[in-house]
Amino acid sequence: ATGTEPHPDSRGVHTPTRAAISARHLRTDRWWLAPAGTAAGLLAFVVYSTWRAFADAHYYSAPYVSPFYSPCLAERCQTMHSGPNADLFGGWWALSPAIIILVFPLGFRMTCYYYRKAYYRGFWASPPACAVAEPHASYSGETRFPLILQNLHRYFFYAAILVAGVLTYDTVLSFRDAHHHWGHMGLGTVLFVANVALIWAYTLSCHSCRHIVGGKLKHFSRHPVRYRAWRFVGKLNARHMLLAWASLVSVGVTDFYVYLLASGAFDDPRFF
Ligand code: FES
Repeated sequence: ATGTEPHPDSRGVHTPTRAAISARHLRTDRWWLAPAGTAAGLLAFVVYSTWRAFADAHYYSAPYVSPFYSPCLAERCQTMHSGPNADLFGGWWALSPAIIILVFPLGFRMTCYYYRKAYYRGFWASPPACAVAEPHASYSGETRFPLILQNLHRYFFYAAILVAGVLTYDTVLSFRDAHHHWGHMGLGTVLFVANVALIWAYTLSCHSCRHIVGGKLKHFSRHPVRYRAWRFVGKLNARHMLLAWASLVSVGVTDFYVYLLASGAFDDPRFF
């Protein structure tokens, strides 16, 4: 100790400048329910996606490629005959090909304004809820390393647009059958369409997107196209949390469906 730290009892909610209320907070509702539920949901997805990302198997069943593995950029995924499959990484890449590309959607969600709130509250209790002070003695916000890297969100947004483009391409290809004939539609196709719609809605509802589309304008009247785009993005933005969860669930369900098909659990029911 340097001798300059305040006494532990006079920090955080006990700083002398705050009202001298002995209770840690005055909320009487079940305020812990939301952060606990959020933490449980996020943890479940982390466990599931870690298993799938490292599995390096059961990610392709014609014409469907798991969204966790697309685009497939290593030589080891060349058994796939559908979807973006560029052998950029050659044969030296020994890990699961999902690891190469998952960093982009992962970075996008990790730095997302909503997910930040969710995991700061759920995992770090910083703070756990409105009007419930955090247990930590000091607070530096996102001004220092590593949290200052949250500012990269805008760049992850650009990457997320590319990822959504790739998933759209995969979805178009899900209208072909295993022999590359168009006109196919299976239960997988329906899941792919729903998933890509939710991924796009989540991506476009991003706060950075809203700023890119309509920010820094002095007069909306001089930019009618951007104004309309901004109004559209604003409507989605109001549902950002809902879309964050819906697209998280849909991407997990879509991947799991491909896993079930690829592992031979059952055949894709076909409508056409
Ligand atoms: Fe959530 Fe950008 S703020 S994705």
